[in-house]
Amino acid sequence: MDKPIDPRTPTYRAVVTGHGAFVPEKILTNDDLAKMMDTTDEWITTRTGVKVRHITTDDESTALLATQAAKRALETANLDPKELELIIVATITPEMVFPSTASFVQRALGANKAWVFDLAAACSGFVYGLSIVQQFMETGRMKNALVIGAETLTKITDWKDRTSCILFGDGAGAVVLQRVDDGRRGLIYSTHYSDGDRWEALNCQAYGSRHPISKELDDPNKVYMQIKGREVYQQAIRRIVETVTECMDRCNLTIDDVAMVIPHQMNARIIESAAKRLNLPDEKVFMNISEYGNTSAASVPIAFDECARTGKIKRGDTIILVAFGAGLTWGANVIEF
Ligand code: UT7
Repeated sequence: MDKPIDPRTPTYRAVVTGHGAFVPEKILTNDDLAKMMDTTDEWITTRTGVKVRHITTDDESTALLATQAAKRALETANLDPKELELIIVATITPEMVFPSTASFVQRALGANKAWVFDLAAACSGFVYGLSIVQQFMETGRMKNALVIGAETLTKITDWKDRTSCILFGDGAGAVVLQRVDDGRRGLIYSTHYSDGDRWEALNCQAYGSRHPISKELDDPNKVYMQIKGREVYQQAIRRIVETVTECMDRCNLTIDDVAMVIPHQMNARIIESAAKRLNLPDEKVFMNISEYGNTSAASVPIAFDECARTGKIKRGDTIILVAFGAGLTWGANVIEF
């Protein structure tokens, strides 16, 4: 293990100055699902912690959710979109193949000075995105950026697969990051990993270059998301524990120093198992999966926004964001809020 870093070395830091979230109005409860397939509220609640998920209508798209979340984040930061220099949209359910979802968000916001792109790292996309902005701000290259996690996973959900469809929901969350020059707070550490050997654990194979629309799919189910639940479950616990441990070691933090760990909301049992192994008390691990399900890249910023709005995290608190998802990908950010 490398020596602990001095988290205050750089003069410039990326500070989260705004946060926002947006979910579609329409909801689907476990009882609704029990009417559609052979499942029960009790099974879904005990195995996943999900009670309700928000789902988009045919008219609601990823860019629409992303734009609404972005507007709320810009409002809390009190920042004019024209001041933005970069917009990253983390998503695996983009508006279209191209241009990027971020292009549509830029247009809707009138953020004409920003360069924009989508980041496809599944559930880890948002924490990856924060890390990119961190680099640009620490070098002094950039002042104002927006990172959004936005997904419409229910559009690629196989509603006949009861093992997976119970998990997912739609939504978006966003944060505004601004450079401060005194180095006293902000993003202090980011770490990221990937394991392409395990790509089959979670995927959606249709419409890419391997299975183009002009070629009939060998398996019609490949138009939908496919998951190997058990494999993902075990890998997720292991990687979350490793990554949070690394953050605490490298930033010289004890559990007492950390106000809140905000994990990707993938399954309450995964979060609880990881928290137990890390000896984290319940009140330091945020969960809102019961109300939203797993919203992939949107889940961490939606959770962050809720924590900030409800006072569960306060200015000056040290927070760890941690995510794990398809790729496989995983990573974390340590933030002094
Ligand atoms: O963010 C990354 C994406 N997230 C994931 O990939 C999720 C990670 N994995 C998980 O969350 C869990 O593995 C699941 C929730 C997907 C599944 O839970 P599990 O405890 O691993 O269940 P299982 O797949 O081992 O299935 C146990 C039993 C099976 O019945 P038998 O074979 O034991 O008779 C399933 O057929 O539960 C059955 N089952 C269900 N029963 C009622 C599976 N889905 C359902 C259901 N309702 N919806």
